[in-house]
Amino acid sequence: ILPKNVTIIEVGPRDGLQNEKKHVEETEKIGFIHALQESGITEMELTSFVSPKWVPQMADAKNIVGKSNKVGRQFVLAPNEKGAELAMEAGAKSIAVFVGVSNTFNQKNINRTTEESMDALEPVIDRLKNEGVFVRACISTAFYCPYEGKINKEDVINLCRRFVSMGVDELSVADTIGMANPVESYELFNQLNEELNGKVLLTAHFHDTRKMALANIFAALQAGIDRFDTSAGGLGGCPFAPGATGNIATEDVVNMLEAIGIKTGIDVEKVCQAVEKIAPHVSQPIETGMYRLYKNR
Ligand code: HMG
Ligand code: MG
Repeated sequence: ILPKNVTIIEVGPRDGLQNEKKHVEETEKIGFIHALQESGITEMELTSFVSPKWVPQMADAKNIVGKSNKVGRQFVLAPNEKGAELAMEAGAKSIAVFVGVSNTFNQKNINRTTEESMDALEPVIDRLKNEGVFVRACISTAFYCPYEGKINKEDVINLCRRFVSMGVDELSVADTIGMANPVESYELFNQLNEELNGKVLLTAHFHDTRKMALANIFAALQAGIDRFDTSAGGLGGCPFAPGATGNIATEDVVNMLEAIGIKTGIDVEKVCQAVEKIAPHVSQPIETGMYRLYKNR
């Protein structure tokens, strides 16, 4: 049975822009965020408190949080204690930590082994929970790693269990390089849902490198998942995951869900208006199904 309602977590302002080589002005980012809020999106990743040496595009994180309208649940990413502190100072109430199942990926992304990251995050999560912060944990390379190849499902589930025991509110389980297929999506999310449903919110995060993300979402829906990370315009990619392209597009996911009778509360036309605003400021061509129809109507 498919869910009646799905929550979309818009990750465009963060995942969508973090890999953009051209500097995007703060005002353009804020305009994009506000236009997305107009579409009915209620959960969004705004930015990341990461090292500006590693990810220069996110150096304006404090101002992005300070200047954007407060609508619904707004996440910022933080890889470590310093990021979490800066995020709280900026007034963030929902913080996303992130770790890769693959050691090699985690080292390239965060300069620590997975184990080192988990040990360092444990007291950070404890503190965030004591301060009343909503904590989301993003699990990268949950299917395939650009360096290590196929990832063992049990390793993903063990990492998820550990985060749940640390008290996180949400797990966002990611196909970082867009290599998962629908059978793999169903099998992982079905097992996660059977074991963790009710203990934590479960969210799926698909990149669309091989154009299987919509099929993977449908498979995850069948496994009982009703929260999906998507990015307006299909923007996105991790600077430390070579070969990966953007996230599955918000407008295409909303269109598919509404077509099969699942409510999202999001207006596709308004998502496309937000995409039109950011399009001139990004190098990536925007070629999503619904945005193309919107431009050619
Ligand atoms: P490091 O070089 O090991 O850091 O980088 P360090 O702890 O040795 O500190 C070095 C310097 O950085 C120090 O400053 C720290 O204060 C500073 P100095 O004393 O030299 O002046 N520093 C920071 N500054 C700002 N914010 C911070 C911070 N931490 C330390 N948080 C570090 C380690 C984690 C900082 C670095 O590797 C980093 O920033 N990585 C972030 C990478 C990233 O943003 N990746 C993309 C997001 S994840 C993603 O896209 C995947 C996802 O979409 C899901 C999926 O699709 O898989 C979520
Ligand atoms: Mg991602």
